[in-house]
Amino acid sequence: MTAVGIDAIEVRTGRLKLDLAETFAPEMGDDPEKYTKGLGLFASSFPDAYEDIVTMGANAAHRLMERKGLEPQDIGRIDVATESAFDNSKPVSTYIAGCLEQVYDGDFHHANKGERKFACISGTQSLDDAVNWILAGRNRGRGALVIATDTALYARDSSGEATQGAGAVAMYITEDPSMVELSTEQGYGSADETDFLKPNQQFPSVDGKRSMQVYLARMREALTDFERAAGDTHPDDYAFIPFHTPFPGMVRKAALLGYRHMIRGTEVEDELAEDIGRQPRRENFDSREEFEEAIKGYVDDLKDTDAYREWYGEAIDPTLDISSQVGNWYTGSVHIARVSALLHAAETDMDLAGQKLLVASYGSGAQAEIHEETVKPGFADEVEALNIDDQIETRQDISFEEYEQIHDRHNHEKSVELEPFTQPDEEFVFDGWGPMNERKYTYIQ
Ligand code: HMG
Repeated sequence: MTAVGIDAIEVRTGRLKLDLAETFAPEMGDDPEKYTKGLGLFASSFPDAYEDIVTMGANAAHRLMERKGLEPQDIGRIDVATESAFDNSKPVSTYIAGCLEQVYDGDFHHANKGERKFACISGTQSLDDAVNWILAGRNRGRGALVIATDTALYARDSSGEATQGAGAVAMYITEDPSMVELSTEQGYGSADETDFLKPNQQFPSVDGKRSMQVYLARMREALTDFERAAGDTHPDDYAFIPFHTPFPGMVRKAALLGYRHMIRGTEVEDELAEDIGRQPRRENFDSREEFEEAIKGYVDDLKDTDAYREWYGEAIDPTLDISSQVGNWYTGSVHIARVSALLHAAETDMDLAGQKLLVASYGSGAQAEIHEETVKPGFADEVEALNIDDQIETRQDISFEEYEQIHDRHNHEKSVELEPFTQPDEEFVFDGWGPMNERKYTYIQ
């Protein structure tokens, strides 16, 4: 079967940085370690006054096209995944194509464009759509551009405020990809949930604690479903497991449950049995409550074993580097987790080609999807061409008052004029409103 997957990736962060421990925690009256240790977050990215989901997406796509020497005629499909759209009809992909057409001679009239919505998981759904389009042989030799872009803002003083973020990931999907090949097996866990939603409103209605339970429940279902399709999983099968990362603390919880599931009935469970006993089995308990209590005890002990810590340090920790510095990017989040892991592998000269990733995506509302990817030999060259570390490093650090201004600036219900904090440089910028209330964009040289 033809190998199809991600040939190249670009990442674009919002240009402002809110330091959570130094700037946000004191204003909230919180211990900074609630953020750095509890949630695992150090900073959030925010868009400057001239940035939004279109500019971040277009700037990521532009850098990707330049780096890969692509022209519009090479791209047969542009899909944008976002939950921050500002138009119920015209998709963000048309705005992004319009931006790119300002800087290329050709156009994207031949390209099929769309917009995918299912909370954070739509980034992965768009990736799947692009892969399926190529596997179906409908691409006529062209690649697909998939862009996951979000400004993840919560209402001021709401529980999610600490987990905000803004950024875009652009991915180029082709046959014989340079970075990763996707497996055809997928597992799903999907249910009608109301943990996090935006019923015609910009900022989410969210039940934070419940959303974490729903995340874990859907992930468990997706892993079981994946195993139905692909056979049992084992922790040693995967070099890295990139998860949807609303904040690293969430992944800490999900990874522990995933590890417990994967080692059940294996030699790892046997080896650990001397120290922490065997995993509780449902048939040995009279009630579900007693069984769940026993599982909780087992998992608490498992967390402190050397085997688990070592596995977590190798397969999970490296996926969290970028996210801990930028916050939740919603649709892009699992894709920056993959980039983080691959960057770590390239920087530490890991021989990763041929090894597998287990990619665990999630979106509230709610659905989890798990699939496997095989790393290709070109991955190191691709991630080493990224400048995300520089982007993160050179963000403008904003004060709490400036954060309040920028939050208002991006609040659709307010029309706040604000002087930018940074100077745009060779990038697309938001440039005001057109006669039909459309947003306008310009490329600044
Ligand atoms: P909160 O009430 O602000 O925080 O809500 P907390 O009091 O639960 O503390 C957070 C953690 O820090 C806890 O760790 C504390 O113990 C710890 P845990 O017990 O859970 O392991 N902590 C400390 N640690 C060290 N030193 C200290 C300290 N103090 C506390 N001094 C919550 C947290 C996540 C609920 C909130 O931020 C929220 O509502 N976030 C938004 C919803 C969210 O991110 N949900 C995640 C799952 S749903 C999802 O991922 C989908 C999503 O991306 C949307 C989409 O799909 O579109 C959100």
